[in-house]
Amino acid sequence: MNPSPSSMRPGAVWCDTDGQPIQAHGGGVMFHQGVYYWYGENKDVPNMPGTERVEVVGVSCYSSRDLLNWKNEGVVLPAVPDDPDSELHPLKVVERPKVLHNARTGKFVMWMHIDEIGYQYARAGVAVADRPEGPFTYLGSVRPCDADSRDLTVFQDDDGAAYLVTGVLWHSAIQIVRLSDDYLRADGEFVRVLQRPGPPTARESPAVFKRRGRYYLVSSGTTGWKPNEAEYAVADRMLGEWTTQGNPCTGPDAELTFHAQNTHVLPVAGGDDAFIVMFDRWNPHNLRDSRYVWLPAEFSEAGELRIPWRDEWSVEMLTKGSPMAETVTVDRIDSRQAYAEGEVLRKTSAIYVNPAGSDDCEGPVATLARALEIARSTGVRRIVLQAGRYMDVALQLGPQDSDLVIEAAEGETVTLVGGHVLTGWTDEGDDCIACPVPGVREGTRDFRS
Ligand code: GAL
Repeated sequence: MNPSPSSMRPGAVWCDTDGQPIQAHGGGVMFHQGVYYWYGENKDVPNMPGTERVEVVGVSCYSSRDLLNWKNEGVVLPAVPDDPDSELHPLKVVERPKVLHNARTGKFVMWMHIDEIGYQYARAGVAVADRPEGPFTYLGSVRPCDADSRDLTVFQDDDGAAYLVTGVLWHSAIQIVRLSDDYLRADGEFVRVLQRPGPPTARESPAVFKRRGRYYLVSSGTTGWKPNEAEYAVADRMLGEWTTQGNPCTGPDAELTFHAQNTHVLPVAGGDDAFIVMFDRWNPHNLRDSRYVWLPAEFSEAGELRIPWRDEWSVEMLTKGSPMAETVTVDRIDSRQAYAEGEVLRKTSAIYVNPAGSDDCEGPVATLARALEIARSTGVRRIVLQAGRYMDVALQLGPQDSDLVIEAAEGETVTLVGGHVLTGWTDEGDDCIACPVPGVREGTRDFRS
């Protein structure tokens, strides 16, 4: 047992804050406003006699701020026992639920594998909620881009575009399809990759993440509940070419993925280069007792993914000692990562803004605005503007910002005009409306001195 855990113990019974074993199999984690939400299959019923199956209970949700202690938020998408035709009837298949937040609509969108007990129906179901804790309303299922659809995941890119990644064509390819802007439809541009003749080498249980501008797709072979060798592939674009890289696992039983199967890769909020690879260690004879194996990802200089076995490890090792623990570079706006950083920023001393930061940067103006947003929500009182072009920045400061220290890198000039922060060299001219805020000094500060 691992009640009130203080460290990760892959494969141990993992209890929620009520002391009950967590029921979130084949799941995924969404980070939203400082809270992690873990969604997964609730399998908390006995196997159907003589089978390796349980009736569908529904999709569970758990919440946590530290990735170790999880509060049960309940079954957020329950089975529908009184309608045998429902796709959520207990005798159907509802697997691998994954949730994204859509910033445009404000909704939480869940995609999941919907099937009948013989796995011939093979569709992708979608449900929607107003809050991460649900309840989710089931909208129905589709055959994305006119293909069958089995194990699936979703991935949200920094620019807000989201993709459904799913096993198609009778286990012979992984299909990546761009979701509609509201994330509710899966009939956009698509590619079919990692093509194989069929089981057991065909890929399933896809999990996607992005690191340093590169996309990674971890998958398993196709042997049902039985473990097999994992594999990962990389690409420069989600809808581009994917190159197979081999098995990322190392250590005892790495060729059997530590007797587990991956389900999701979780970017750790505020961690520098910190990702947790989530696996399920299935117990086909007592599925409710399937365990979780969470392991930190490691990367070589060249960006190769490695997942070494660990008996026990601490989540803090993913944030401590990294530059992120002291300072955070905010170079993107409104991205999942930026939100993720928010929580850890409570422990940081400064928010570093870097408008020229990366190709994904959506613009310096909003980036500084984002830094202010993060400063307000975290209590960090120092924003450091690194070298770059902060063009026509008109930042609305309020009374709550009066103790905010805004610094610039050497050579930069920042002008505070009433309720606004301006750079010294806006191309567009000073078109901001001065609006004095008590406590905010007006004037120009030259940071050369
Ligand atoms: C696996 C799949 C699981 C589940 C299982 C049923 O291949 O990844 O999600 O469908 O088969 O046998």
